[in-house]
Amino acid sequence: MKLVFATNNQHKLSEIQNMLGDEFQVLSLADINCQDEIPEDYETLEENASQKALYIYEKFGVNCFADDTGLEVTALNNEPGVYSARYAGSSRSSEGNMKKVLHNLEGIDERSARFRTVISLLIDGVETQFEGIVNGEILHKERGEDGFGYDPIFQPNSYNISFAEMPLSEKNKISHRGNAVRKLVEYLLK
Ligand code: IMP
Repeated sequence: MKLVFATNNQHKLSEIQNMLGDEFQVLSLADINCQDEIPEDYETLEENASQKALYIYEKFGVNCFADDTGLEVTALNNEPGVYSARYAGSSRSSEGNMKKVLHNLEGIDERSARFRTVISLLIDGVETQFEGIVNGEILHKERGEDGFGYDPIFQPNSYNISFAEMPLSEKNKISHRGNAVRKLVEYLLK
């Protein structure tokens, strides 16, 4: 079965293709010649994942899935959440975003946070959603060079290193996206 993943992020594409094996062929937006800026107009991960998948399904008539991820910091009323990519402005700078989180948490001891990913799958017009979560805390300063986004300031529970200090294979075993993708794969292969 061919399935379009509403992304051009090569890393995400190969990660999921690898987990799905030969039975499924995962196509990117570029593979279906979609250059559109796909709308993400809503205020929840669930609605945005849904909107992105539906956009592709309706415009291109293909079975597909879309994901949306946010960092939810308890003491910040679950911000930046759905605004994670552009928390510090439209430049989408990871440095700026992390600085803003650290600034907003200055003087606050309660630093629990989680990453949450929602995947919306649309097959023959029927939608199924999968959620993946990893719980942890926001460090007081950046640590580590690997990863992307908020990785240097996020330390998962039961670890004393940040996501940016962790080998990718280790991160994938426990991460929000890894957990959501595993649920999707289990569903598709059953
Ligand atoms: P997206 O929905 O996967 O594009 O994620 C939205 C934003 O959440 C990204 O721009 C990053 O800032 C942040 N993010 C998502 N996944 C991760 C992760 O694994 N580590 C750190 N930040 C992430």
